[in-house]
Amino acid sequence: MKFFNTAGPVNQDDHYKLDPIHRWDFDEILMLLAQRKYFLLHAPRQTGKTSSLLALQAHLNAGEDYTAIYANFECGQAARNDTRRAMGALIEQLKLRCEQIMGEREQLNAIQQEAMAGDKPDIALNSFLTQLCRLSKKPIVLLLDEVDSLIGDTLVSVLRQLRAGYDSRPGSFPQSTILCGVVDIKDYKIHRSDGEIITGGSCFNIKSKSLRLGNFSRDEISQLYLAHTRETGQVFSEGLFDLAWDYTAGQPWLVNALAYEACFEMKENRDRSVPITAAIFRAARERLIRSRATHLDQLADKLKEERVYRVIQPMVSGTDSELIAEDVQYCTDLGLIRESPEGLVLANDIYREVLPRELTESLQNRFLTRFAPAWVDPDGSINTDRLLTMFQQFWRENSEIWKPTIAGYLEAAPHLVFQGFLQRVANGEGLIDREYGLGRGRADLFLRWQA
Ligand SMILES: Nc1ncnc2c1ncn2[C@@H]1O[C@H](COP(=O)(O)OP(=O)(O)OP(=O)(O)O)[C@@H](O)[C@H]1O
Ligand SMILES: [Mg+2]
Repeated sequence: MKFFNTAGPVNQDDHYKLDPIHRWDFDEILMLLAQRKYFLLHAPRQTGKTSSLLALQAHLNAGEDYTAIYANFECGQAARNDTRRAMGALIEQLKLRCEQIMGEREQLNAIQQEAMAGDKPDIALNSFLTQLCRLSKKPIVLLLDEVDSLIGDTLVSVLRQLRAGYDSRPGSFPQSTILCGVVDIKDYKIHRSDGEIITGGSCFNIKSKSLRLGNFSRDEISQLYLAHTRETGQVFSEGLFDLAWDYTAGQPWLVNALAYEACFEMKENRDRSVPITAAIFRAARERLIRSRATHLDQLADKLKEERVYRVIQPMVSGTDSELIAEDVQYCTDLGLIRESPEGLVLANDIYREVLPRELTESLQNRFLTRFAPAWVDPDGSINTDRLLTMFQQFWRENSEIWKPTIAGYLEAAPHLVFQGFLQRVANGEGLIDREYGLGRGRADLFLRWQA
């Protein structure tokens, strides 16, 4: 049975997917490989980087020209600045991956041992790659994932060792290397353990290009969803693809997660004769947000970082603020914000919803539950005056208690607390539309009650 995958790369036959290779400018990539370039691929979390690298590896290995080796360098992160430990992990990882593709177990073990001998972590990776390329009959293309998860001295050492071997390619060093990650390493400030700060570009100036992987287009969302209709006969009612676009702005994981929620998690819709309607999708969106799915949780975690705070705080509170360009770049790289005709805004509707909920979550649980919904009139309508009076009362009484509960977003506190309050009011029967962005001087909230 095929399904919408929300856990890791889409490299199985039973995943609905868009061809991962052609989400990039594939001709461009082939040209860069042919020209023996070393380059960066960067894109926000959960956009399909790993899926696309794995597909490229399979494609290249099926052809005659190259041996492609994919390896995830995240395994070197835990060693932090301990380059000896980190190189041990990275080389082991590389060796295992090479073995899967090339066989040659004994020779690879020997190369690994030789590289690690003499306790010289700052040349070990270079030595392993040199011997590997001599062993391989075809030029090696190296696909290194999560390179930016490496820290300080380790990252500097990896980049410098790659640079040191560059002029020996393709006979004694990889023909091409793609470094993949969330941030563009060329602008990345690397903090070494001796306190020195180095920019990634200066270690890796052999980089010739930096490619990005985008979100899905509207058309791609419908292609992905229609694969489900073809497979099962279950239809999406009119306007649903547009609604998915409104909710996700094409963020690949969100697009999959919404449809997975609607068609697989909500049991009643597993009957494939049930058409997936806008009401189902609205419920799926709400369930997704409440489930604190990993991707959304990781995102919420980022809000605690100082540089993210500096960008998000003025957005939520609608205040003007001098922004630091690097902070904006970082938040853009993470996929948290994007440029729009109205300026910088949160990247999509679901993030817009998750963010204030996340920041006021403990507040909602601890304080707001004591309200009886006295703001609802006997005819079921909302009494706005009473609602606002109750909020003012609440605000006056609790202005100190809520402070520690909003994760440092103190200046945005009144706005966040009010959003948290409205969330409690909506409580399953209403919807809150939120519009906020930088430089607007305000945040718009629109409560739809029993709409
Ligand atoms: N080609 C594709 N077709 C359909 N969905 C995709 C495709 N590529 C990625 N996705 C969606 O994005 C999710 C993440 O994919 P993948 O792990 O490849 O991304 P990533 O950018 O490497 O993520 P991370 O930043 O966590 O390493 C998948 O679980 C799937 O929901
Ligand atoms: Mg990945």
